[in-house]
Amino acid sequence: MIAPSQRFTKIPPYLFGEIAAAKRKAIAEGKDLIDLGIGDPDQPTPAPIIEALTRAAHDPQTHRYDETNAGWTPFLEAVSTWAKRRFGISIDPLTEAMLLIGSKEGLSHLAWSYIDPGDISLVPDPAYTVYKVNTLMAGGECHIMPCLEENGFLPDLTAIPTDVAKKAKLLWLNYPNNPTGAIAPIEFYRDAVAFAKEYNLLLVNDAAYAEVYYDDYRPVSVLEVEGAKDVSIELHSLSKMFNMTGWRIGFAIGNAEAVGTLNRLKSNLDSKQFPAISLAAAHALLELDNQPTLDLYKKRRDILCDGLTALGWNVTKPKAALYVWTRVPEGYNAMSFAKKLLEEAGVLVIPGIGYGQYGENYIRMSLTVMGDKNGELLTEAVRRIGAMAL
Ligand code: MLT
Repeated sequence: MIAPSQRFTKIPPYLFGEIAAAKRKAIAEGKDLIDLGIGDPDQPTPAPIIEALTRAAHDPQTHRYDETNAGWTPFLEAVSTWAKRRFGISIDPLTEAMLLIGSKEGLSHLAWSYIDPGDISLVPDPAYTVYKVNTLMAGGECHIMPCLEENGFLPDLTAIPTDVAKKAKLLWLNYPNNPTGAIAPIEFYRDAVAFAKEYNLLLVNDAAYAEVYYDDYRPVSVLEVEGAKDVSIELHSLSKMFNMTGWRIGFAIGNAEAVGTLNRLKSNLDSKQFPAISLAAAHALLELDNQPTLDLYKKRRDILCDGLTALGWNVTKPKAALYVWTRVPEGYNAMSFAKKLLEEAGVLVIPGIGYGQYGENYIRMSLTVMGDKNGELLTEAVRRIGAMAL
């Protein structure tokens, strides 16, 4: 067999492919597994969205290619209406918004749109792996921005050497954050926009978790910062917003030139999404919220965090996103502790090292727990963890 490209050799297998294999093995060995692994909503997509899909799928117009420029107009108009209602920002649906086949796809293709061999991406660590991997695939280099607990898991932009900032093209951010559950105050985004302007960077904000929040907190958009649209593009996803991971639909909003650049690449690569899905997504954006699911996540968050705190762990309750990110006990690292949890407690977590070197001493536990109706599996997970000898 011929060898794959040189650039292919730079990328590892996808983190969650490896995790899924470990999970299959544990189940095959007869383990009674509690899965706190991938952040994949376990609750069904709300029924009105499925009904909207059914109606749209009966319209033969949706059976053909979507030949619009950047996504069906009703979808892009719904995106614009939602962005105004949710963040108070004005988005021109025809030039400043585009459909994505999930935000992961858009993030990947942004790297491909902007990075030439030798170009630099400013990449947070720990972080969702897609920013780094696609920069490397495109031949670029990553300057790692450590996101440390003492800084609220925000990168210190002032620590980036001036020569690196001058050479860089993309600044990747992601709040509410995967994997740490951290949030970014608007002041942080103000500084990031100013930094992007000073060094002529495109600020890419991955906002896939903007609609997963708890208590009185509401995540902000980088586009709320005055002048942000000059240098920023923000990616959203219906996946976590409305339990629609399998549907593959998201959108990008922001700088018209960046939206146009991404769209030019994509129009040469894919043929958009099944239009009926974008119509169902438009219905969701205009008419629905996902409050029952958020209430369930909050309940699970409290059971898990309060339970681990009672065991003597130092756990911070996330204000948003799906994840509890916590240090492993003395004497372990991310891998050894995740392995111990799986083998001795049958609890699957993600070792923080999977998100980069600064995740070395952490594990991530997801609040999406298949089979958990009312927090009972989280209660059982805490019980099993408490019974483990450390
Ligand atoms: C995660 O668990 O980190 C996410 O579900 C991955 C993704 O959204 O692709």
